[in-house]
Amino acid sequence: MDFTNKEEIDQFPKGSVPQELIVTTVDTIRYGYMQELFIMNNIRSLFVGPTGTGKTAYIQNVLATKLPADKWLIIEVGFSAQTHCNNVQDIIDMKFDKRRKDHFGPRFGMRCVIFIDDLNMPKKETYGAQPPVEILRQLVDQGGWYDRKDNKHPFRNIVDTMVVAAMGTPGGGRSFITPRFQRHFNIVAFANFDDNSMSSIFRSILKWHFRTGGFSPDVAGLEQKIVGATMKIYQQIQADLKPTPLKTHYTFNLRDFSKVVCGMTRADKKALTTGDQVLRLWAHECTRIFGDRLINNEDRLWMLNAIKDATRAPFGSQFDMVFKHLDTDKNGKVETLDEFRGLLWGDIYTAFAMPDRPYEEIMDKDKLQLCADDAMVQYNNVSDKPMPLVLFNFAIEHLLRIGRILQQPGGHALLVGVGGSGRQSLTRLASKIADFDVFQVEIKKIYRTFEWREDIKELMRQVGGKGNPTSFLFTDTQIK
Ligand SMILES: Nc1ncnc2c1ncn2[C@@H]1O[C@H](COP(=O)(O)OP(=O)(O)OP(=O)(O)O)[C@@H](O)[C@H]1O
Ligand SMILES: [Mg+2]
Repeated sequence: MDFTNKEEIDQFPKGSVPQELIVTTVDTIRYGYMQELFIMNNIRSLFVGPTGTGKTAYIQNVLATKLPADKWLIIEVGFSAQTHCNNVQDIIDMKFDKRRKDHFGPRFGMRCVIFIDDLNMPKKETYGAQPPVEILRQLVDQGGWYDRKDNKHPFRNIVDTMVVAAMGTPGGGRSFITPRFQRHFNIVAFANFDDNSMSSIFRSILKWHFRTGGFSPDVAGLEQKIVGATMKIYQQIQADLKPTPLKTHYTFNLRDFSKVVCGMTRADKKALTTGDQVLRLWAHECTRIFGDRLINNEDRLWMLNAIKDATRAPFGSQFDMVFKHLDTDKNGKVETLDEFRGLLWGDIYTAFAMPDRPYEEIMDKDKLQLCADDAMVQYNNVSDKPMPLVLFNFAIEHLLRIGRILQQPGGHALLVGVGGSGRQSLTRLASKIADFDVFQVEIKKIYRTFEWREDIKELMRQVGGKGNPTSFLFTDTQIK
């Protein structure tokens, strides 16, 4: 069934970012309906499935839209490997009112849902238990827990409260949880998205973007082809480039698909006017998302050929014509990686530290060099630690890559390379170009979890409190 209709797209809130949109599919309806029934009937549920299947997103969606805030208290706790059972207890206790002697719960007349995300992440202790899971088991089994702060340790009964949880399938840091806790839950398994849901999700997002952005019909009509081509690459890369011990990070999932599509939405209608430009932007985003992860030229060449292939079908264009400007040896063909490297999009044409930074195609190599050099000069003028960098082609390309990620909501970069390849300095430069502050922790002689937490608090005050965009730069030498 296709739920993507015009009405739904019109309902997306104005000014939302594509990353946050949830498109109605069979899955959202199905799982949302079930979760709502579970909660209304006080049945604990546990959503289990591979990463990126929307477990978190759907539960949050139900909690946010189906439960009126005057009737429901919602406590969301995300578990990590380092979650401590005392923290869990404190976070939950903090939200409760006293009902009567030794009885606690949400305000009178309300019910509480505790949503535990990534339930099976906590590290196992010496004897194989997961203390945060055990404390929740006590809550469910015994209906409460002991007060740690009072030295008589009275039992705190917790009333009108239920638990819902989500977790990934065991493996890679996630473990099996104890059956004595699992038995309390109604388990719902999530399967990976089928191709139809996936295309319908991303078609709707693109359609919405092209409509609200006022794009020309030439561009807006391509949404089906963009999604089809991304799907083709996504399927091929999963089939052909498998993770091996040397390439453990060759794992691709829905999030990568979504990044390509969201990357397409970075360009506005001034930058995207023709079908060929759309194709070039799409090829660029695919190379950034999939291509930048590849570790050798053989795989990169595979990527180039996959893009060529997708250009032929579903786009139905002539690769060598569309990418003509990349043909540096003028033999009428773009066939080497060196030529293809020239495909660049970025916001570097905009002046240093301007807040509004349109994403544009970079065709003019000389102008690119000028802009980058100019940014470097400006950086050195304003910075108290000037850097004498020579911006050769590779450095500029990396600068654009970092800048691109900084501008994305929830964008994080893991820069891998040999020492001295400019990972830190280029990040600093890219951050300043985007008018971001750079935050780094300083490892002193005594640096423990306490100091780390203080540093993170300071960072949070800067970004969340004052609202200063900041890149948090963390290097391998800082990890003990
Ligand atoms: N129907 C949908 N429409 C739009 N985006 C969706 C839809 N379903 C899932 N997504 C997107 O998929 C991404 C992954 O979802 P989510 O974070 O909920 O996965 P998860 O199952 O919790 O994964 P993990 O096990 O890694 O925590 C999110 O960015 C979410 O917005
Ligand atoms: Mg999740």
